[in-house]
Amino acid sequence: MKYSAPKGFQDILPPEISVWQRIEAAARSVFVKYGFHEIRLPIIEATDIFVRSIGEITDIVEKEMYTFRDKGDRSVTLRPEGTAGAVRCFVEHGLHNLPSPQKFYYAGPMFRYERPQKGRFRQFYQIGVEAFGAAQPALDAEIIAMLNDFLKSIGLLNLNFELNSIGCDVCRPVYKEALQLFFRDKISGFCPDCNRRYNTNILRILDCKVERCVELRGGAPAVSGHLCEHCRIHFDELTGLLETLDVPFSLNANLVRGLDYYTKTTFEVTSEHLGAQKAVAAGGRYDKLVKEFGGPDTPAIGFAIGMERLATLLQTVVPPEKAAPKVFVATLGKQADTEGLRITKSLRNNGLWVEPSYGGASLKSQLRKADRIGAEYAVILGENELSSGKAQWKNLKEGTQGEVALTELQAFFAKA
Ligand code: HAM
Repeated sequence: MKYSAPKGFQDILPPEISVWQRIEAAARSVFVKYGFHEIRLPIIEATDIFVRSIGEITDIVEKEMYTFRDKGDRSVTLRPEGTAGAVRCFVEHGLHNLPSPQKFYYAGPMFRYERPQKGRFRQFYQIGVEAFGAAQPALDAEIIAMLNDFLKSIGLLNLNFELNSIGCDVCRPVYKEALQLFFRDKISGFCPDCNRRYNTNILRILDCKVERCVELRGGAPAVSGHLCEHCRIHFDELTGLLETLDVPFSLNANLVRGLDYYTKTTFEVTSEHLGAQKAVAAGGRYDKLVKEFGGPDTPAIGFAIGMERLATLLQTVVPPEKAAPKVFVATLGKQADTEGLRITKSLRNNGLWVEPSYGGASLKSQLRKADRIGAEYAVILGENELSSGKAQWKNLKEGTQGEVALTELQAFFAKA
């Protein structure tokens, strides 16, 4: 029987994993400076949490959720994203009682039953951030600046920051009416999904990727012309602050996002080097969600980074590091094998990556292995070395060699 990972699921192996680790470490080090704390959230939540927040008429809820009944006959879902769970957590633990804004980040797998393709998986990883309790555009600006700082810190410079506002409960209904009027005579030419969206979630027509729909929607009214005064001021202040903070951005009136919880600010970071799935990170404000989940009125904003896409991009800038041991300890004979293990342990205690030979093989094959795994040094220990109290060393990179007293090994490698 031959097994393989399920379609759309993948293994992340060395050396590629080094790129992931670099991304995660950089995210932590930047986020902490902005006052974000890590939270770990369940991978499974009650299905209703996602239906209510992401929205019933969205691709995710309609088609993409891994939903099943557990043994207690409860409907549960593998999280397709992190915001809903973070809001559930915020309300459940009464975190609004702590000083505002409360700022969190999380990292982990998400699950969407999408058609797998380049950059699109059924299990994918996100690093997400959520900040609760400040309605001011200064928080939007900081969040976006933080994302920019993080991307710069890992060496990704040429990404596009796209920005939009999708308004609030006051202005969005007016905008939707304007869209309805615009699409009314044309909608029959759109794809079946857009025809459905016309009645259920008209904003999503602006986000459809079908070529004909993209063509037909040219000239559709832009949300910017329909924002209420409150949303307009918020957006203008935000763009002003981004300029002050030196965060480059462009306006994209079609950026409506595929999740229903957004209000006001939406943004996406894209790269032209990723093909069709070009969004590396995306987010926005969701000022009503905490209240909808039974908490007090608490504005919030966040984003999530797609790890696979970011890792793909980063590998074009900095190749994955093939990690290799500093020392390989080659041993010949039972007694040397044991002494080799002792030396290995004590060198490791000094902070080095050291590989023992595990015994049994000829010296030639041990040295071949040392070379294959990329060890910088080999230390050779046989009966003669044990009795003389001196080991041979070889620098496998430079081709040099010599002898060192067993008692001097620590000092030798501390300098090597
Ligand atoms: P999202 O736009 O659905 O937003 O996902 C964020 C990022 O996750 C995308 O830009 C993309 O990089 C990555 N991503 C999404 N789906 C896939 C997939 N099937 N395969 C690979 N990567 C994928 C959210 O999830 C929101 N929760 C973001 C947010 C946080 N908004 C506010 N706070």
